[in-house]
Amino acid sequence: MSDAQAVFHYRNNILHAEEVPVQTLVERFGTPLYVYSHEALTAAYQAYAQACVGRRAQICYAVKANSNLGVLNLFAKLGAGFDTVSGGELARVLAAGGQANRVVFSGVGKSAQEMRLALDAGVKCFNVESFAEMHLLNEVAAALGKRAPIAVRVNPHVDAHTHPYIATGLKTSKFGINFEQAEKAYALAAALPHLEVVGIDCHIGSQLTKIEPYLQALDTLFDLIERVEAQGLRIAHIDIGGGLGICYEEECPPAPGDFVRTVLAYIDARGHGHREIIFEPGRSLVGQAGIMLTRVEYLKPGEAKNFVIVDAAMNDLARPAMYQAYHKILPARQTPESDAQHATLYDVVGPVCESGDWLAKDRTLCVEPGDILALCATGAYGFVMSSNYNTRPRAAEVIVAGDRMHLVRARETVESLYAQEHCLPEGSIATAMHR
Ligand code: LLP
Repeated sequence: MSDAQAVFHYRNNILHAEEVPVQTLVERFGTPLYVYSHEALTAAYQAYAQACVGRRAQICYAVKANSNLGVLNLFAKLGAGFDTVSGGELARVLAAGGQANRVVFSGVGKSAQEMRLALDAGVKCFNVESFAEMHLLNEVAAALGKRAPIAVRVNPHVDAHTHPYIATGLKTSKFGINFEQAEKAYALAAALPHLEVVGIDCHIGSQLTKIEPYLQALDTLFDLIERVEAQGLRIAHIDIGGGLGICYEEECPPAPGDFVRTVLAYIDARGHGHREIIFEPGRSLVGQAGIMLTRVEYLKPGEAKNFVIVDAAMNDLARPAMYQAYHKILPARQTPESDAQHATLYDVVGPVCESGDWLAKDRTLCVEPGDILALCATGAYGFVMSSNYNTRPRAAEVIVAGDRMHLVRARETVESLYAQEHCLPEGSIATAMHR
């Protein structure tokens, strides 16, 4: 059962996560609930790792996709490195047993404090994204008596053909240094005594379904590497970023193994096979390994629309509201053929007070209050993008391994949501009114 999708499957019409009926998970942990499959996470990582066998390659899992400690801990044990974009993510990686010397630190707005943290921990590389950042990093490293290993994140101006919010390689993007300026960026790095050039980096977008944009981006990097090495610098590694897509609805992205093999073969064919290669996959490692379970509260038939109101909302899963994203829905109990005639066209919505609060539109479902539904492929950018809007405690997270269930994040309590807040001191309002 190593296919990442097959770990969530029906047995006698009952939806299971590996060996556990989802109904059992819900009874034990409540809803909304994020459920991740240990087997699917492992299989997704192994697909990348096996395609890299015999190569100097590092898979740096993009922590932003799912930063639960249990997930990070599993990937660390499997030998992963990590791509982090904040001091917080770096702290999580270290708390989960990840090794700092396998961490790359990306992001357009690294603070001095975050730079200090990363230098102290000893990260493998800073992916720098502006000239100003290089100056600050040089100062911070100087104060610590260190040299910061850097790669310039190059913006190769490639159209990744994805949702505008998750395309990052275009000229108009805030990310990276435009390739016309990259040579100058390397010259600056060489001139700053507390920076040490170790690599080159790019990331062109997310949910990519084709390999061609990666190969186009690589062509730009190869060209730059030649010019930069002619300056006397050495580019030891090429970081090609993340972004490989998954199938949410009908997309057909290449399988991770095929993707990696094609990219590596292309790098070899262009004479760069001696360099270390870094991949930063997020979604393709965790997306299909997770589902979100929610309970049907009410059915609300209407003239223009019928609604299924569930107990999960845009605060729990933001992707539909933010990107009009599609997530397949599976019922915990499969409808017998005889009942299928009762199926109705519904929008699935949550309790949050926003019209944008929907999880699915125009789905044919056969449901009743109390039923459990699974929103599929929510292992990536699901829980991590959740919020407490409407003072809703965030969901619990569970990893299922065979017939075992591990609670890897307890459900938040309402009290914890305002534990850091304070009422005004006694008398402060009266004083203000008399002023
Ligand atoms: N490396 C860098 C520098 C990134 O910015 C990202 C994602 C990744 C790697 C991982 O990309 P992935 O393999 O997961 O596509 N919230 C959006 C996705 C935002 C992606 C941001 N950057 C969504 O829910 O679709």
